[in-house]
Amino acid sequence: MNKELRAQLESTTQHFKPSTKITILTGAGMSAESGIPTFRGKGGLWEKYDPEECATAEAMRERPWRVWEMHDELRQVLARHKPNPGHFAIAQLEELFENLVVITQNVDNYHQDAGSTRVLEMHGNAWRVRCTAEDRSWMDKTVPYPKLPPKCQCGADLRPDVVFFNEQLDRDVLNSAFGETVKADVFLVIGTSYVVVPAAYLPLMAKENGAVLININTEPTDIAAFADISILGRAGEILPKLVKMLKGKFGI
Ligand code: OAD
Repeated sequence: MNKELRAQLESTTQHFKPSTKITILTGAGMSAESGIPTFRGKGGLWEKYDPEECATAEAMRERPWRVWEMHDELRQVLARHKPNPGHFAIAQLEELFENLVVITQNVDNYHQDAGSTRVLEMHGNAWRVRCTAEDRSWMDKTVPYPKLPPKCQCGADLRPDVVFFNEQLDRDVLNSAFGETVKADVFLVIGTSYVVVPAAYLPLMAKENGAVLININTEPTDIAAFADISILGRAGEILPKLVKMLKGKFGI
């Protein structure tokens, strides 16, 4: 580990006590090392699919097969990959700090697959489906679907239980995310480009409510301007190092 990174991680650990309230916001960069392309990076899903055509409520009504074509491909990609050491490190943090919640913009379920139990999914879950007629949702890991669009037992189309581009976020999830943000002593932002609202409001909201803001990203982002500590690097490499240092600090 280079000197600068060690110093940054050491000053990060100073803010952690077992009773510290920790809120973690993750974006697509969190899963980049799992092999999932980020939204705005090279090879991202939106290079291949037009969001207007494949990820809106109108598209779901008018061209459900097209929406599902993209979504089924996403599910196939997710099924071929798995959580990376960064996801596992966050799950370990939950064992060290009882007051820790993850807010994720990712729909891949990798935090839960790695063992995190307190996860707020701002943009839904790619493995959950919802009946368009009955407003019921459930996890369905069928991949790929033999026929698109998949149907509910009632005969109506199923839709992915993710938030489409022109849709509102789930109010309860959003309220919980705001609540976890304002209560945070330490707010960690990991692998998000800080351009999609309302998730992008959360770091500033945390800071305004007294949290120490720590940012981990491979690129400089606008969050760096007001973060207390900005660590340039890969989540899957930095987070296991942070956990190791914290365990050393707590004698575990
Ligand atoms: P983006 O693709 O916009 O940004 C990914 C961020 O991760 C960038 O800032 C990268 O520099 C950073 N990054 C890449 N690899 C990394 C790594 N290994 N470690 C740490 N950081 C890394 O993805 P999001 O910010 O998540 O919304 O995008 C937010 C939302 O935009 C998504 O949830 C999605 C999309 O529209 C919906 O699907 C509703």
